[in-house]
Amino acid sequence: MTPESAPTIQQLLAFYLEAGVDCALTDEPVNRLSDPDIMSITREAAPAQPVRTIPAPPAAIPAARAEAPAAPEAAILSAREAARTASSLEALRALMETFDGCALKSTATRLVFADGNPQARIMFVGEAPGREEDIEGLPFVGRSGKLLDRMIAAIGLDRSSVYIANVIPWRPPGNRTPTPQETQICLPFIQRQIELVNPDVLVTLGNPSTQTLLSTREGIMKTRGRWFDYDTGTRTIRALATFHPAYLLRSPSYKRMAWQDLRAIAKALEQVSA
Ligand code: URA
Repeated sequence: MTPESAPTIQQLLAFYLEAGVDCALTDEPVNRLSDPDIMSITREAAPAQPVRTIPAPPAAIPAARAEAPAAPEAAILSAREAARTASSLEALRALMETFDGCALKSTATRLVFADGNPQARIMFVGEAPGREEDIEGLPFVGRSGKLLDRMIAAIGLDRSSVYIANVIPWRPPGNRTPTPQETQICLPFIQRQIELVNPDVLVTLGNPSTQTLLSTREGIMKTRGRWFDYDTGTRTIRALATFHPAYLLRSPSYKRMAWQDLRAIAKALEQVSA
C-alpha cells in the first residue's frame, strides 16, 4: 500500500479556508491531542486503532477556542451597565472598544460600529459583520452590502441619509452564527445605539436581527413586511422587518417582496414628515 503523502502547508491552508477558518486565534499552534486529560478519556473510550501520523498544523492556524470569556450573566450585566452610561454615540463606541465581556472581540480584527449618518431618520440593523466588514471596520461593505446600497437607492436614499449597524459588532470567526449568549451580551449596545440615533423608522434585516430586536419568535417569512412598535424606553419607533440582502442574493425571487417592503418604508418616512 502506498503511504499517503502529508499535505503541504498550502493545501492545509486551502483546506482551512474552504472550511471557513480564516483567522488565527493565537500565534502558536496548540496541539490539543497532547493534553493528558483528554488523551486518557479518549484512550478509555476508543478501541485500539493503528497509529497514523497527523501533520501538526502550521503556525498561526486557529486554536480551537479563544480565551475564556466572562460568565455570560456577568458580561450581560456589565454590557447593560456600560451601555446605560453612554450619553452619545462617540461615548458608546469608545466604551465598546474597551469592553472585554464578549469573546468575539478577541477573534475579530476590529469593532464594526456603524456607517452612515447619525442624524438619519432611518436605521438599518443586520446580524453581524463578515470578512470584508471586519477588514474595513464598516458594516455591509461586502456583496450583501452592495445589494443593500441598491435597495436603499431604490427609495432615493444613500449612506449619507441612512444609518447602518449590526446586532453583533464583532465578526464571529468563519462567519459562524453568533451564539445566544453572544447576542445577549451585545444586545444592550445595539439597543442604546438605536436609542441614541433615535430614527423615525427602524428596519431589521433578516431573521436574527428581527427576532432579537423585535422580540418575536416568528420566522422572517411571517414577519417581513409587518410593522412593529420598537420601544427605546424613551420613545416608540415604527419598525419594519425585511429580508437580509444576503438571503436575497441566494433567493432573488424574494426581491419582489423586498421591494414592497421598501415602498412601505418610503411611505412611512413621508407620513412621519408630513
Ligand atoms: N451581514 C450582516 O448582517 N452585517 C454586515 O455588516 C455584513 C453582512
